[in-house]
Amino acid sequence: MAEPLFTNAIVRLPAPSLRDGLTSVDFGKPDYRKALGQHIKYTETLIQLGLNVKVLPENNLYPDSTFIEDVALCTPSFAVITSPGATSRRGETDNMRQVLSEYFNIIEEISLPCTLESGDIMMAGNHFYIGISQRTNNAGADQMIKILENHGMTGSKVYLGKMLHLKSGASYLENNTMLLSGEFFGNKEFEKYNRILVGDDESYAANSLWVNGKVLVPDGFPATRKKIEEAGYETIIMDVSEFRKLDGGLSCLSLRWESQ
Ligand code: GLY
Repeated sequence: MAEPLFTNAIVRLPAPSLRDGLTSVDFGKPDYRKALGQHIKYTETLIQLGLNVKVLPENNLYPDSTFIEDVALCTPSFAVITSPGATSRRGETDNMRQVLSEYFNIIEEISLPCTLESGDIMMAGNHFYIGISQRTNNAGADQMIKILENHGMTGSKVYLGKMLHLKSGASYLENNTMLLSGEFFGNKEFEKYNRILVGDDESYAANSLWVNGKVLVPDGFPATRKKIEEAGYETIIMDVSEFRKLDGGLSCLSLRWESQ
């Protein structure tokens, strides 16, 4: 399976309302200024890795809107606007058609009562694993699988236990390698991959991000970083402490794709 070469990314600046974002953890409120600095470093890193990055302005109406990955899926030949399961996030999709039409001729849409957030979608080549979670329902996954199949790709479902999104606990690092937290380590869907297990004490680092041959790893998880490096990857440590306070991780902060 050939590795993709990501050429494009879209990010959205965090807004001051970030402190009101959804969360299931008790790490305190995010510091907006610090979050902005971390976001700028993240964007610069994507640029250094060769991506053209479009930076969208903050949207203070939607505290979680900096987690832009959830509102669309971008593939080399088409994009899909999703249907967020979190009611407070539904309006985040409002201007996405206009944003994506700069890059894509074909834009599909998931619509209610189907729900799907792309934090629940993990791309492995032409196959897309779709988590069934608190945010993505079976109907949403079915609709996405149909869209993928119409475009010559495939999808399958993975049922989640405690994770917010599939990619909160599983990341495809290309080269037939998956980084997996305990919840997914024994999952039959992933048996065919070389698997790197993330310990329970570092489970946040299961959301590490492969970009063009390097792996972005959140700061503060040395055991996971070591395992990824021992598997042959060069890592880049990113401080995303303020986004972690809202259950957000490295993948959530951008839409990334390889243009044709
Ligand atoms: N705070 C990100 C989310 O819950 O979707």
